[in-house]
Amino acid sequence: MQAGASAAVLCHHGRAMSLLITNGRVITAADDYVADVFCENGTVTAIGQDLPAHRYRADRTIDAAGQYVMPGGIDVHTHLDMPFGGTTSADDFESGTIAAAFGGTTCVVDFAIQYRGQTMRHALDEWMTKASAKAVADYSFHMIVTELPDAGLDEMDTMVRNEGVTSFKLFMAYPGVFMVDDATIFRALRRTGENGGLVCMHAENGGVIDLLVQEALRKGQKAPKYHALTRPPRAEGEATGRAIALSEMAGVPIYIVHLSSADALQKVREARDMGLPAYAETCPQYLFLSFDNYEEPDFNGAKYVMSPPLREKWHQEVLWKGLAKNDLQVISTDHCPFCMAGQKELGKDDFSKIPNGAPGIETRLTLVHNGGVRKRHISLNRFVELCATTPAKMFGLFPRKGTIAVGSDADIVVFDPKRKQTLGVKTLHMRVDYNPYEGTVVEGSPSHVISQGNVIVEGNRFVGKKGAGRFIKRGPSQAPAGL
Ligand code: URP
Ligand code: ZN
Ligand code: ZN
Repeated sequence: MQAGASAAVLCHHGRAMSLLITNGRVITAADDYVADVFCENGTVTAIGQDLPAHRYRADRTIDAAGQYVMPGGIDVHTHLDMPFGGTTSADDFESGTIAAAFGGTTCVVDFAIQYRGQTMRHALDEWMTKASAKAVADYSFHMIVTELPDAGLDEMDTMVRNEGVTSFKLFMAYPGVFMVDDATIFRALRRTGENGGLVCMHAENGGVIDLLVQEALRKGQKAPKYHALTRPPRAEGEATGRAIALSEMAGVPIYIVHLSSADALQKVREARDMGLPAYAETCPQYLFLSFDNYEEPDFNGAKYVMSPPLREKWHQEVLWKGLAKNDLQVISTDHCPFCMAGQKELGKDDFSKIPNGAPGIETRLTLVHNGGVRKRHISLNRFVELCATTPAKMFGLFPRKGTIAVGSDADIVVFDPKRKQTLGVKTLHMRVDYNPYEGTVVEGSPSHVISQGNVIVEGNRFVGKKGAGRFIKRGPSQAPAGL
């Protein structure tokens, strides 16, 4: 099990806090059975049918009859308190992890940014400072790499071996901001072959996109929908294929982030069919929203300006098939919220100035349950696998997180499959003035969310503590084991 065992959580008698969840349907990636789950001192210590009351006396008991008892969701792609597009994402580590918790996510892997001229150490310290006193649930970091001199290669080793930062995001898009060239990508990939890290790739052809953007602006095409029209699926497919080819030449695995299109998925599928260790995540926005959203009146299309952009609706079916057949292994959110007022409106007269990103940290589980499990695109076990178990394995958190087993962290969601919710800014907790799914009624949401053995969300109430979240040092990816 990974480093960082939890400090004892004590009740007012000075004993370790204990929690008993009775009669729930325990759902993991592999199993589905009715049992009681006993948690003590932040970990699961017993699972069994009718655990004897005299041996398992708990400070608190939750009757979960009729509900699912699932591992807490793990969101491996969030941007909290992130400077981007001339502003900063609207959720910080407090509001963001509270919203995550309401949605059943008990661990996020966010991104520290190594800006040009700065070290990874500096980036990690900066993001630790943002998170440590604020996060209400556990968190970890990937490192965004924007340049890679020789010293940077050595720092990658230090991050993986000493700091528990075992994954690196590189960009093939956003020239002048984050984009790196193929040689830099290749150097990073090769180094992960030595140190056991994993490269996560933002795969869009930034050069081509930049040219299309400049052309559109010259023609006076400045509305939000031109964001999507200047980032075609082929630009994502090309970059995805190139990223995979580079990883094949380097002889290492690769993980494609926020995959949005059939074009990109085809490249991943072809690679996997050849036996290459290529992996990818998609996000709820690509499964439930589409290019049509950019046609909403006035400036409302700006709500959906993100990269890659929303695609034509037919791509959704292809992505669902990819999820069902394991060509896609993870559902993350790419939560990167910007308010319409004061933030998205920076691009009122020029779509290229609209900060890229949308909120989603709170709605992932309920959307995927409602639109994926209930509509029979995926099974209940696969839902857990995509939202918790494989994210944990892919990013070195398993078996500490991502499953319900004796010895695992007591990060648990009691999920009521019948609990209805109307999604919208009034009911949700993300610090942003719109929601992409406003008015959508979903069935299935958490009734209790447990982090480190403590209930932190109870129905509509947050009962956790600011700063209770811990930085989790991650181990190497378990992807090469054949996910
Ligand atoms: O539009 C997006 N995706 N914003 C966040 C940054 C990124 O590329 O993931
Ligand atoms: Zn990205
Ligand atoms: Zn992102």
